[in-house]
Amino acid sequence: MRTQVAIVGAGPAGLLLSHLLHRDGVESVVVETRSRSYVESRIRAGILEHSTVELLTSVGLGEQLTAEGDPHRGIYLQWPEERHHLDFVDLVGRGVTVYGQTALQADLGRARDAAGQEIHYEVADTALHDLGTEHPSVTFVDGAGNAQRLEADVVVGCDGSFGPSRAAVPEDRRRAWERTYPYSWLGILADVAPSTDELIYAWHPDGFALHSMRSAKVSRLYLQVPNGTDLAEWSDQRIWDALATRLGHGQGGWTLSPGPITERAVLPMRSFVSEPMRYGRLFLAGDAAHIVPPTGAKGLNLAVADVALLAPALVALLRRGDPTLADAYSTTALRRVWRCTHFSWWMTTMLHTSSDPFEAQLQRAQLEWVAASTAGQTGLAENYAGLPIGF
Ligand code: PHB
Repeated sequence: MRTQVAIVGAGPAGLLLSHLLHRDGVESVVVETRSRSYVESRIRAGILEHSTVELLTSVGLGEQLTAEGDPHRGIYLQWPEERHHLDFVDLVGRGVTVYGQTALQADLGRARDAAGQEIHYEVADTALHDLGTEHPSVTFVDGAGNAQRLEADVVVGCDGSFGPSRAAVPEDRRRAWERTYPYSWLGILADVAPSTDELIYAWHPDGFALHSMRSAKVSRLYLQVPNGTDLAEWSDQRIWDALATRLGHGQGGWTLSPGPITERAVLPMRSFVSEPMRYGRLFLAGDAAHIVPPTGAKGLNLAVADVALLAPALVALLRRGDPTLADAYSTTALRRVWRCTHFSWWMTTMLHTSSDPFEAQLQRAQLEWVAASTAGQTGLAENYAGLPIGF
């Protein structure tokens, strides 16, 4: 098999890249180890930055997003007895949109189907070859058990943190930075109308809690829990009780409505950046190159921003023989990656309780400043609503 761009991974980054390349006349083939139904049903992020929405809409992916995405002006930031609304639209002129990654993945799948995109799901033994030459390739065993070789001009790794792409960069040609956090999130989806109009980020002595949502009938909520938490120890009652306490049920007349829990998982929290995002004819995008903790909902938006930079770079390289943008890709993308890495770390460490009482005092001082000062609010809003793609 031969194509111009071999894309490893059919998550949002891989499918969006194939979509953007196709629009500009560059062909690609996508390979993915998981099944299509797995990729389309996994529960991930739910917040799209302003520039993510603009990009998706401008490339013909906005139909469902416009109909079903829920525009939000801001968030609530709270701690016991206090709840503050930060209005991003007033502060920085742009808000965010609540739209689940599952919905975006379905939109991308439909668009790629309509374009006749070649995607191989459920492949095994994916390996990348000859990345330092102009004739790289990807080998894999297809769903029918046949060994395949996909020859390409360029390979793009959109295969997440544990895929083979980043590992294919020689160790002496990459450097990584990592921070693991001493806590995890217990996340649930529940069939109940959200108890809030905007997301609530809550600092509480028992631990952080977040009230998010997916639709008018589906809520998404999270609790800070210790690493290694066993879900079996968290009955539905215990989860809703902890959420009610931490989110301030009963304060100022606000109540949290519980409902049937349809999905639950414990999610580790990690910051990770690998540089550079390019080695020879291999380019990395999304989680293959960087991971952010979920506080602030940057992961999906960063993946979209990577691809928005990479697609025109590959079009210029492959259609016009112009390597300028491709050569700049890693440096340009990493500026935003580090900005979001800092913001996600900052939100995370401001809101999650630790065992250090001095740190808890600093957190309260920080929260009070962010909530009370226009400068503090604006800094949070600018990062949360998202910087322009070309930042
Ligand atoms: C979510 O809805 O899944 C979500 C929202 C905001 C976050 C993280 C996750 O900061």
